[in-house]
Amino acid sequence: MVKICCIGAGYVGGPTMAMIALKCPDIEVAVVDISVPRIAAWNSETLPIFEPGLDEVVKTCRGKNLFFSTDVERHVAEADIVFVSVNTPTKTRGLGAGKAADLTYWESAARMIADVSKSDKIVVEKSTVPVKTAEAIEKILSHNNKGVSFQILSNPEFLAEGTAVEDLKAPDRVLIGGRETPAGRQAVEALKAVYAHWVPEDRILTTNLWSAELSKLAANAFLAQRISSINAMSALCEATGADVAEVAYAIGKDSRIGSRFLNASVGFGGSCFQKDILNLVYICECNGLIDVANYWKQVVQINDYQKSRFVQRVVSSMFNTVSGKKVAVLGFAFKKDTGDTRETPAIDVCNGLLGDKALLSIYDPQVTEQQIRRDLSMNKFDWDHPQHLQPLNLNDSVNSVQVVKDAYEATKDAHGLCILTEWDEFRKLDYQKIYDQMQKPAFVFDGRNVTNVEELRKIGFIVYSIGKPLDAWVKDLPSSA
Ligand code: UDX
Ligand code: UDX
Ligand code: ADP
Repeated sequence: MVKICCIGAGYVGGPTMAMIALKCPDIEVAVVDISVPRIAAWNSETLPIFEPGLDEVVKTCRGKNLFFSTDVERHVAEADIVFVSVNTPTKTRGLGAGKAADLTYWESAARMIADVSKSDKIVVEKSTVPVKTAEAIEKILSHNNKGVSFQILSNPEFLAEGTAVEDLKAPDRVLIGGRETPAGRQAVEALKAVYAHWVPEDRILTTNLWSAELSKLAANAFLAQRISSINAMSALCEATGADVAEVAYAIGKDSRIGSRFLNASVGFGGSCFQKDILNLVYICECNGLIDVANYWKQVVQINDYQKSRFVQRVVSSMFNTVSGKKVAVLGFAFKKDTGDTRETPAIDVCNGLLGDKALLSIYDPQVTEQQIRRDLSMNKFDWDHPQHLQPLNLNDSVNSVQVVKDAYEATKDAHGLCILTEWDEFRKLDYQKIYDQMQKPAFVFDGRNVTNVEELRKIGFIVYSIGKPLDAWVKDLPSSA
């Protein structure tokens, strides 16, 4: 029986390994992590991540050919294939601070693999890493254990949160990069055989190591670029009276452009986009490609612009001050159908409003109060460390934050309401009821274009929705953004 071990039981490692176990009954899969509570949660009724459909997959395989354990060294020693899916935070100090990937966790995993290995192993990069990481890892492995042969593969994961199970079941493609040597090719074939249990052969692409590593950064940069492009257009739509949804629909009909990933929003979030682009920018700079670096930097800059533009709209609409005013925040996760808040635009928007002394009442169907408070008090870039190592230093502004159990409680007596995640339930709220219990004039700031602007205006709300024709109220403000 082939044995697989995955180091890192996070958003990527957990679901990916669960799907391999489901589709490959002849393979034994162990997912290991240094975080005791995380592993305990994977072994409990309440999984550590919310992902539609994942519970059933895990329940079907757990205890049969899928195991979650903190006994990292034993499972690594026994495995034929070791996936590494640990955190790769952005460096906060030293060379490349604010851009380069911090490979501390990767390096410690590689050293541990070298220490405990007694049999040949295929080591697979699963977490996104800078191009040429495989080379560094190869060196660590081979210099620290000369008796064992290691083959390094890059097999980046393209799943999106909220749809992870569907994405894993029927991926657009699986990408495997390896060394172009006989042993390298053999390792690629071994990993290909795992995916071939359920993925059609023509969807399993094989490349050299560097192409695979770069493709992951490039894919995320291209996706994020589409969002920044439509978000840039949303500002122009507001200035001209065009409707960004109509523009997106019209351009998306061009088969060369395509309709997906053209939803204007308050900004993209998630653990990958910003981090991967900053990483790409750093790699370009290191290679002297300053123009290329500047080109991609703009994607992140427009995203920051979009978030601060939103805050400015809120503040300027509400008579240039939100000081002491209750503002309801609906949605805190970085997108719907996940409880993940990593790099969510809600953090920047909430901090912007708190900076203007607003009193926030936040509701999200999946994010816990503890997580929200942690996020609002965390320094930039500190989020991507194993959770038990994340600093927790709650600051004063957090006293201005209330976390509540539903949208109606959040909006009671509020002056304004901001929608920051596109949860389906926000489309179906009783907005008349909400209007009746809010202070007047009552404002809606829809950062996800989930509401029916015309209907809300009929009820009496003053509405700002990203990239939509402005309410006369907002348009006539002297300082409108
Ligand atoms: C373009 C638009 O495609 C068309 O919809 C619009 O109405 C007019 O402008 P056109 O300029 O005729 O049409 O040709 P197009 O095929 O878009 O190519 C434009 C340029 O981009 C060419 O120089 C082409 O060589 C180049 N190109 C195109 C690339 O370098 N790479 C590509 O992948 C595609
Ligand atoms: C992304 C990539 O899609 C995935 O392939 C990669 O493996 C990891 O990064 P993820 O971050 O989970 O996945 O979610 P995604 O659906 O890509 O959304 C990212 C952010 O962009 C979210 O904040 C989302 O709300 C936002 N978004 C997405 C928009 O604002 N508009 C869109 O049209 C699409
Ligand atoms: P991703 O979204 O890429 O899956 P996560 O942060 O959700 O990232 O998961 C990464 C996991 O890796 C965390 O649960 C963390 O505890 C774990 N981890 C980090 N370093 C190590 C290590 N050296 N050994 C085992 N697990 C590790």
